[in-house]
Amino acid sequence: MNITDIKKVTVVGSGSMGSQIAMVCALAGYKVTLQDINHDSLEKAKRSLQGHMENRVKKGRLPQADVNAAFDRLQFESNLEEAVNETDFVIEAIVELLEEKRKLFAQLDQMVSPHVILATNSSTFVSSRLADVTNRPEKVCNMHFFNPALVMELVEVVQGPHTSEETANITVELVKRIHKTPILLKKEIDGFVANRILGALSKEAMYLYENGYASFEEIDLACTKALNHPIGPFALMDLTGIDISYYVGMQRYKKTKNEADKPSKTIIEKFEKGELGRKTGKGFYVYNNQ
Ligand SMILES: NC(=O)c1ccc[n+]([C@@H]2O[C@H](COP(=O)([O-])OP(=O)(O)OC[C@H]3O[C@@H](n4cnc5c(N)ncnc54)[C@H](O)[C@@H]3O)[C@@H](O)[C@H]2O)c1
Repeated sequence: MNITDIKKVTVVGSGSMGSQIAMVCALAGYKVTLQDINHDSLEKAKRSLQGHMENRVKKGRLPQADVNAAFDRLQFESNLEEAVNETDFVIEAIVELLEEKRKLFAQLDQMVSPHVILATNSSTFVSSRLADVTNRPEKVCNMHFFNPALVMELVEVVQGPHTSEETANITVELVKRIHKTPILLKKEIDGFVANRILGALSKEAMYLYENGYASFEEIDLACTKALNHPIGPFALMDLTGIDISYYVGMQRYKKTKNEADKPSKTIIEKFEKGELGRKTGKGFYVYNNQ
């Protein structure tokens, strides 16, 4: 198989990531089906994508005709079997819970034809934690986008010990064809490259905040105004979702049993209060445009 055999892409999970990944693929010319078990989530995805595309057209960044053509190629579907009909490549972007992902990969493996690659957009789990529930481990890999996927250029492809060269090469090539920049990790490590670096930064930011050295606003200012980062670590946690920080920490803690890997007390408090960041209107900062 090679890249030209990929005609249709299915994205499973239509949340913040899946919706925009689907749009990126449709804009690049692929036939795409975006699937979610939650009908409201699919509706929300459609509205949000329409809003993003209207803005781009208004700003002169995209011609209306290209947007119309992309929407013509993009289907929204709640039935998984329908969504993977005639698909060539599946990108999983459901909730960051390993057991949910494993259930889904086992189902997908039964539903799709043997040539189909199953990629996960997980922020933390290496694909060997999913490949073993399928009969096609050589066709399973990580394809990790960044938030917001319509804008962020990098995609990390991770080749596990089970992933074939062909799968890694096709996935890297697909990243290029959807106008993103790939990096290929030839060895698995949880969290991959960018998020591990970000994790070290966020941990230090949280240490300074929780021990009263500076407010979260000031720590964000230090990162933006002194280090020239485009966004501070607290504003970024609000953007990616406090629930993601919570789940990532909890999964890491489950694996290592090391207290230092647990989410910080601030993250646990915010998670329990449902203050998940931009998506709920409040995280560290308050957002009025929800
Ligand atoms: N948010 C980020 O910044 C970010 C960045 C990179 C990668 N990721 C990863 O992308 C994935 C999705 O994250 P998100 O922020 O878009 O989450 P989200 O909570 O916004 O969306 C998840 C969606 O998955 C749907 N879903 C849950 N179980 C499902 C199933 N079995 N089948 C179909 N749909 C299902 C939910 O209804 C929801 O719409 C996670 O693995 C996360 O780690 C997130």
